[in-house]
Amino acid sequence: MKIAIITGASSGLGHEFALETARQRREIEEIWLIARRRDRLEELASQISKKTRVLSLDITDDGSLATLSALLEEEKPEISLLINNAGFGRLGDFKELSAEDSRDMLRLNCEALTVITRMCLPFMTANSEIINTCSIASFAPNARMAVYSSTKAYVLSFSKALRFELKPDKINVLAVCPGPMDTEFLPVAGIAKGTSFTFDTLPRDNPTKIAEKSLKVSKKGVGVYACHPFYKFYRVLAKIFPHSIVMKLCKT
Ligand SMILES: NC(=O)c1ccc[n+]([C@@H]2O[C@H](COP(=O)([O-])OP(=O)(O)OC[C@H]3O[C@@H](n4cnc5c(N)ncnc54)[C@H](OP(=O)(O)O)[C@@H]3O)[C@@H](O)[C@H]2O)c1
Repeated sequence: MKIAIITGASSGLGHEFALETARQRREIEEIWLIARRRDRLEELASQISKKTRVLSLDITDDGSLATLSALLEEEKPEISLLINNAGFGRLGDFKELSAEDSRDMLRLNCEALTVITRMCLPFMTANSEIINTCSIASFAPNARMAVYSSTKAYVLSFSKALRFELKPDKINVLAVCPGPMDTEFLPVAGIAKGTSFTFDTLPRDNPTKIAEKSLKVSKKGVGVYACHPFYKFYRVLAKIFPHSIVMKLCKT
């Protein structure tokens, strides 16, 4: 049985990834939807014409990861597509954030993504795809989002290295790098109007469009994808200029 696994499917970009996967990947027979809020996942599942499996899991919890691992061992599916999308951020100076918030960002954005990828790899074959939701925050460090941008720099670096390693196996790894999107991410991060000049002024990405385009470029074997022309430009800028200057220009 060919399946897709999508983390963070209960809202925002993950929700759109699930709908787009159903539209674009005919070969996939079942979509496994992962997040903590079961009701949201069930509502999403009711909108998808393919078979779905709702997995209400906190993927920062070892017990939940063991549940997923056991399920994979039992079902032995062929994982055609893994979308590591769950993630969260917090706006604020590092000293103002709680140690727990910083730890939880590392656990969700880096650790869970890495562990789930490792868990899924034995069930992948040639032409399987891994899509990791990264961010424009990965291109250069962001003051006032120091931990979040560092977690996304990890996702970018990990995705590039893994893509290189998995080339002989014909498995593509794509790091998707959206700019700000109007999802639950912003309130969860404590970003409201007036809290950050950069977030108030930066162009918004549309999660539906990001999901649609990302699935298309993943199929073409692309490694890193920023959709909006402004963020393609920012990526180049962050490669050329010292990050001390980029950080001043893009202060969150
Ligand atoms: N929105 C932006 O401005 C923006 C920009 C660049 C990149 N991103 C990235 O895009 C990705 C998706 O974010 P979004 O914008 O769609 O935000 P969102 O609407 O808040 O979605 C986050 C998803 O992650 C899930 N999640 C959070 N903690 C979890 C946990 N411990 N275990 C399992 N699932 C968990 C949430 O579901 P539950 O609460 O139900 O668990 C939710 O489905 C994230 O990786 C984020 O860093 C967002």
